[in-house]
Amino acid sequence: MILFSFPGYENIERQLQAIPFVQAGRFAVGRFANEELYARIEDKVRGEHCLMLGTIAPPDESLLSFLLLAETLKKERADKITAVLPYLAYSRQDKDKPGESLGTEWVGALLKSSGIDEIITVDVHSARDQQLFPIPLISLPTDNLFADVIRRHELVDATIVAPDNGAIGRCEAVKRAAGMPIGETPYFEKKRTEKGIIHSELIGKAGAKAVIVDDMIDTGGTLVSACEKLAAAGVREIYILVTHGLFTGSSWVQLWSFGVKRIFCTDTVPLRSDIEATNITQFSVAPLIARGLTQAVRPLAAVRGSSA
Ligand code: R5P
Repeated sequence: MILFSFPGYENIERQLQAIPFVQAGRFAVGRFANEELYARIEDKVRGEHCLMLGTIAPPDESLLSFLLLAETLKKERADKITAVLPYLAYSRQDKDKPGESLGTEWVGALLKSSGIDEIITVDVHSARDQQLFPIPLISLPTDNLFADVIRRHELVDATIVAPDNGAIGRCEAVKRAAGMPIGETPYFEKKRTEKGIIHSELIGKAGAKAVIVDDMIDTGGTLVSACEKLAAAGVREIYILVTHGLFTGSSWVQLWSFGVKRIFCTDTVPLRSDIEATNITQFSVAPLIARGLTQAVRPLAAVRGSSA
């Protein structure tokens, strides 16, 4: 397999390149004088299985560059293209609301029409995303990684809390993986209004120490509102455990004033270089992706090897 990796994912790239059947691909994406994008590859890809590692998250140039490189690999007769998108942008636009774009379906169609055959991602936002994608969308779960964090940071005695009912399943999977009692997961009912997030009171009980588990922190609106309620309910020590750390804007900084001691997130999104990251701990999904890829691809490599 030939791996074409975009900047920002060097750690994951290194681990994927350590897989015996993966070799590095060389490419450039640039702009002509008039600003139009172009992609150029420097390897022969005819008949090869190509891997693309990167992101389609804003700025929009990332999406266009990703699509253009895929299109180029296909034009050069790559046999198969697997996109590794650790964070799948547009995955929250998965509800068909009258008069509004269904971004998940749109982006899936774009990836397919540019030649991509399958996607590997981490903790996709919803099962609906997989239904909306016209190509296989493999989502690698982080339960075991989260369980390791919980054990290493001595959080097994904390209450796992879901910031909305969509996160209850994730919380239960993490508790199972960490060997914690499953029980009922305390959660909030959440509403997004024009004025921001509105949370109900906590449904269920939390102790003095809580871990909120979710798929992502974006602006932090969801978590700030949930932590405010938890603090008011007497929770003194709060930890946040999320897969994708987007950290958009600066509202999430308020989390520290509601008793949040630390935010744990993975490296599916490169950490913003301009933020104060003292109490943010990043852990890597590289081994998870390498394992997922080896399991998904090895049989194909073995079949090819034996028929050669
Ligand atoms: C919502 O369904 C998601 O699971 C996250 O809770 C949400 O998208 C996070 O966004 P923000 O940090 O902007 O509230």
